[in-house]
Amino acid sequence: MSDKVVCVELEALQPGDYVVRIEESSGFRLKQSGYIQSEQSLERLREAGVKSVWVDPSRRKASPPDEAPEPQGKAETTKPRRLYLEARSAMARFYEAVAGDAMPDIEEASQYAKGFVDGALKHPTTMSCLTRIREKDAYLMEHSLNVCILMALFARHLGLDRELIDKLALGALLHDLGKVKVPESILMKPGKLTDEEFEVMKTHVTHSAAILAEEPGLPPEVMDVVANHHERLDGHGYPAGKGAESLSQYARMITIVDVYDALTAERCYKSAMPPTRALKILLDLSGSHFDRTLVQQFIKCIGIYPAGTLVRLKSQRLAVVMEVPPETPLKPLVKLIYNAKSRTHLPVQQLDLRTSQDSIECAEDPALYGLNIARYLDA
Ligand SMILES: [Fe+2]
Repeated sequence: MSDKVVCVELEALQPGDYVVRIEESSGFRLKQSGYIQSEQSLERLREAGVKSVWVDPSRRKASPPDEAPEPQGKAETTKPRRLYLEARSAMARFYEAVAGDAMPDIEEASQYAKGFVDGALKHPTTMSCLTRIREKDAYLMEHSLNVCILMALFARHLGLDRELIDKLALGALLHDLGKVKVPESILMKPGKLTDEEFEVMKTHVTHSAAILAEEPGLPPEVMDVVANHHERLDGHGYPAGKGAESLSQYARMITIVDVYDALTAERCYKSAMPPTRALKILLDLSGSHFDRTLVQQFIKCIGIYPAGTLVRLKSQRLAVVMEVPPETPLKPLVKLIYNAKSRTHLPVQQLDLRTSQDSIECAEDPALYGLNIARYLDA
């Protein structure tokens, strides 16, 4: 037996682990040492009352994709994803209705916004990861959904109360509704708009506000978020060119969230910008375009990955954050553990993101992959 064997609790055992022996106290005898082949093997040990086993980490092998551990807490984590996909279709219907001069179903929109707020309060990391779902043709719908989710996460981070978060999330979901009144040739134009085209593009805000003004009883916070999402603190925004003195905290929040999502989206004419670069741009423009304190809060809300966080890298590898250098908190030292694409374990390896081509895409929920982060944190 290798002298490097370690005692592992059954909860932390995974397919691909090489078991050398079983703790005597369980009364279960191991005929021979060997690999844990599947979740079924784990289940058999569990049923036999085994609490812990001795494992040789140096012999660990990646589990084949068809034997990858079944995600734990699946029901909990697939719910937000299903909600996201449902809401995306609902947004497509809204846009269609508005394009045909019908009123969108605000009550339905309100239910989706509330669902996203629920998700943001209960599963912030999963919700934040959902905003990384991108399909080239679904930009308008996804942008609305993402801005809604990010607004809910931001509002939660700022400690706003639930009723208010619901209103801000609804405003965020509906903010770009007026874009259906802008010709597709301008909306989808690859490259820079001419001055005339940009003037037409700007009208989407007044269209959004006008469509929603017909809906009786919409809370003023919803209208505030919709009408002011392109205004800037220095008065260089549109449509009204309002200055700092007339922009509420909620309006300041959506300007940040809206630009962040637009920058990190992949469009037909540009590739997606990594979150870290988008956050840097927001920081550079804080004080002039955006509220400095709120930008800093937004970065804290989504951009900082403390030690112990499971992150998904651009390469689709999952890694655990081990050390956060204070000067480059978005480029920590990580431990690579899993390939999210093939759903296989990787040989555990350190990676310094300060010197790597790879970068963090978003935080991930370990339960989605049946990963126990604690076991990777020491040594
Ligand atoms: Fe907009």
